[in-house]
Amino acid sequence: MTGEGKMAELAGVYPVLIGLMGSGKSSIGRRLAAALELPLVDLDAVIVEQVGRPIPKIFAERGEEGFRDLETDMLARVIGRPAVLATGGGIVMRERNRALLRQHPPVIWLKADPEFLAARIKGDANRPLIAGGNALETLRQLADLRYPLYEACADFVLPRGDMKKSEALREILAFLHRWRRENAAG
Ligand code: S3P
Repeated sequence: MTGEGKMAELAGVYPVLIGLMGSGKSSIGRRLAAALELPLVDLDAVIVEQVGRPIPKIFAERGEEGFRDLETDMLARVIGRPAVLATGGGIVMRERNRALLRQHPPVIWLKADPEFLAARIKGDANRPLIAGGNALETLRQLADLRYPLYEACADFVLPRGDMKKSEALREILAFLHRWRRENAAG
């Protein structure tokens, strides 16, 4: 099959990316969206646009719960649209969000360990959960809490690490083809 024919096979497939902060949801999402000729919807960016405030300000003014309320509202609004959807790392914390994810496969978990992530996001002022604290320790706690939840929502787990982004993209596309064939009617 030609490259074009292969991509046509994925028409109507709208992947959702989940994983801890720093796992590459936005950057891999961008590449995946380009390959599928879909827009990338970044849920954090949707929230920022909706509220007109950056994420740390939203946390400061409304608390984490206030942010989570917005996140759930926006997820319900955008999930299922013809796009690649990159979510925020905490998306799996609410049952309602997990239900929405399960209703809109395929969901891809970019699984990376806290050591890998801490090196990437250390000192990122735009991430209120790690700002000013011990990023590695926080990421370890988040991983303990969230890994089982990501696992429960994911149709595919992509282990990140030293893998190049181009390789990650290839693996995801191979999964999407398998998933499409397995989920084809008949
Ligand atoms: C969060 C992750 C962030 C953002 C917010 C909370 C989290 O998104 O939604 O800071 O709870 O892990 P990224 O995963 O895109 O950094």
